[in-house]
Amino acid sequence: MNPDKKSTFTSQAGIRTEEIHHQKLKDWVAEIAALTQPQRIYWCDGSQQEYDELCRQMVEAGMLVKLNPEKRPNSFLACSDPSDVARVEERTFICSIHKHDAGPTNNWMAPADAKSILRGLFQGCMRGRTLYVVPFSMGPLGSPISHIGVQLTDSPYVAVSMRIMTRMGRDTLRVLGSDGEFVPCLHSVGMPLQPGQKDVAWPCNAEHKYIVHFPEENTIWSYGSGYGGNALLGKKCFALRIASAMGREQGWLAEHMLILGVESPEGKKTYVAAAFPSACGKTNFAMLIPPPSFSGWKITTVGDDIAWIKPGPDGRLYAINPEAGYFGVAPGTSRQSNPNAMATLHGNCIFTNVALTPGGDVWWEGMTEPPPPSLTDWRGRPWTPDSGTLAAHPNARFTVPASQCPSVDPDWEKPAGVPISAFIFGGRRSSVVPLVVESFNWNHGVYLAATMGSETTAAAAGKVGEVRRDPMAMLPFCGYHLADYFDHWLEMGHAISDPPRIFAVNWFRKGPDGKFLWPGYGENMRVLKWIVDRATGTTDAVESPLGWVPRYENIDWHGLEQVSREQYEHLMTVKREEWIDELLSHEELFMKLYDRLPKEFVLQRELLLASLWRSPQAWKPTSH
Ligand code: OXD
Ligand code: MN
Repeated sequence: MNPDKKSTFTSQAGIRTEEIHHQKLKDWVAEIAALTQPQRIYWCDGSQQEYDELCRQMVEAGMLVKLNPEKRPNSFLACSDPSDVARVEERTFICSIHKHDAGPTNNWMAPADAKSILRGLFQGCMRGRTLYVVPFSMGPLGSPISHIGVQLTDSPYVAVSMRIMTRMGRDTLRVLGSDGEFVPCLHSVGMPLQPGQKDVAWPCNAEHKYIVHFPEENTIWSYGSGYGGNALLGKKCFALRIASAMGREQGWLAEHMLILGVESPEGKKTYVAAAFPSACGKTNFAMLIPPPSFSGWKITTVGDDIAWIKPGPDGRLYAINPEAGYFGVAPGTSRQSNPNAMATLHGNCIFTNVALTPGGDVWWEGMTEPPPPSLTDWRGRPWTPDSGTLAAHPNARFTVPASQCPSVDPDWEKPAGVPISAFIFGGRRSSVVPLVVESFNWNHGVYLAATMGSETTAAAAGKVGEVRRDPMAMLPFCGYHLADYFDHWLEMGHAISDPPRIFAVNWFRKGPDGKFLWPGYGENMRVLKWIVDRATGTTDAVESPLGWVPRYENIDWHGLEQVSREQYEHLMTVKREEWIDELLSHEELFMKLYDRLPKEFVLQRELLLASLWRSPQAWKPTSH
């Protein structure tokens, strides 16, 4: 089909037919158009003009609200269907040929069955809509760590969001050339329009949702949802599930990790990558502002959610942030909790499911105290603080260019990536797990990361406070068998000469009074500094039964009276009985993965048990 012929745009906008030299891509677009039967096809060029025009059309159609340009320039609010507000893990499938290659932690369907079901659903599903062809690069154009995808979608909201979240449009198509490799990503909201039928503000399919990955074909099909995690296919679907499988084949890592730089007053820069499950303050950590006593220290942000990590020629690991924007959770973000994020959001944002102020700006729970006296909530209803409901959905999001972040690292788009000196893994544990531990070696670090757990919060389904294992924070994002993923991690550390050190942290330990023992936020800098000093070989540690830990004296306490030596000991205590129970509880995960579990894991657990048996009832760093 001729992309120009039925374009919604003026002749200057969009990629023209004569610019498209990739026959395989043209054939695929034609095949999908024949299946889905869109009213028109439009090839996105990624320009500002195109973005503005698409947003204008969505405002006209009632799909976006334009915010007050004096308060939030060039910004919009989208409110979704109440049934389409989050990732749908139970509708997410890894369709490998063999079921056991997807592993017991993923939903699986045979590829032929998935294709047959989805072909049926995709048949005619774009009737009355535009098919947007979105060429995008995950990672800076031209980087040897980057990879290209092309998303076909019938959602203009997805097309504009992809312009923020990826390098999208004409330049990417040029890099693709006439035969470059790309990951085909097919998406539809699953709501065709009959002739004359009026569209709704947030089309989606209430009945059928499928987020389907074919890791052996590097292909993604997503149907029925317009929500970011299900519909912006570059993010979780490509950059984690498909990329994790590509990384295993090709010898690299695709991880659910933020990347940050720590700059000392002397200008020495050390980069770390850190994995935390959701609701553990990942974005806050990526944009941390050091406490005033750390004058001259600076944290710079490379990425807030995903890292692609490849071995460099010098035997170190180099990481890029494959994304170009942040798709972050808005509630809880404030000038106190994350001033850098608030500054990033000054304009050029798309907000989803937050509340609207009478002055045409946005608001969410936690942004200000007290809340505004009146708002329109995310469902479009009048709201006051007495309404007894949340004004913003708890999973309300902002989509914003990463370049707007005041702490963005000067090398955040460096094609070679940044060298990683340490991996940090963290969970939310009110007891048992100390503030920080450095692993004895790579294998031991992989064990700590693979067995990390997090307590469920009220926001998640299940019993509150229950510990759920979330290996490397990748449970919902690993595109293949989790035990093979552990094996790949073990391999990676041994395949390079200078692997990063591995650390485990827990900001959430509580004292007997039920209060947090650690102040968190900017004060996490103190732990981060010790980690960086260890990674660069400039500080001391003491051997605990679990790994190397800082003595009280090894942490910089200037300007923080809140944490006494006694409190620090509470934070760092390793209780023998608790830890034996903890290690035994790892068995549940191991039994699930038994047939492919690396032998090293069983041995690591034995070693830890043995060292606990010989340690005091309550091990403390200062008693040694
Ligand atoms: C996210 C997630 O949206 O981890 O980043 O769910
Ligand atoms: Mn995430």
